[in-house]
Amino acid sequence: MPSYAKRNLLPYTAATLAEVQRIKPVAPLSVPHQASRDTTLNGYNIPYEGFVIVINLWSVHMDPRLFPEPDTFQPERFLDNHGNFLPRETLIPFGIGHRMCLGEQLAKMELFMLFVSLMQRFTFKLPEGAPKPSMYGNFNAASFVNPPIPFELCAFPRE
Ligand code: HEM
Repeated sequence: MPSYAKRNLLPYTAATLAEVQRIKPVAPLSVPHQASRDTTLNGYNIPYEGFVIVINLWSVHMDPRLFPEPDTFQPERFLDNHGNFLPRETLIPFGIGHRMCLGEQLAKMELFMLFVSLMQRFTFKLPEGAPKPSMYGNFNAASFVNPPIPFELCAFPRE
């Protein structure tokens, strides 16, 4: 059975989940914010009244100075030379600052447990002749989340 307490024994799994969240964050534009008072940031005036602030998390994940060849899926970028999981502070799928995701720890645990359980029990293959799943999301401007475009996959129980 997977154990979250022993997640350090599965560094490649941790790196894969990190890379999934880097390349396709669930909420690429975080959620809309507003300044609590008139303020400035990097020389820009940010008024309190009437302005919505949208933080582009996705642009950080796709910055080639932080993640070389950002369009390619490379879990190894989250591993050190000894194969240990290498956390990176520029991976920010849960946002940053005082209003970052309250459910981060729960979500990380759920992702790990679900992913490991599925990988232990099944081998996944595309149906014969089916196209690869699209790497584009289906961004929903009302909810600000970016779910995948539906795709078909066969799950074969493992021996
Ligand atoms: C993979 C799963 C999840 C991702 C990627 C995610 C991501 C985010 C992001 C990007 C924000 C906005 C942060 C910001 O404004 O800077 C957020 C806010 C929030 N999330 Fe999540 N979230 C996830 C799961 C969850 C879960 C499981 C819960 C609760 C059980 C949760 C509760 C919240 C709450 C309450 C906020 C608002 C925090 C605030 O405004 O102070 N999230 N989340």
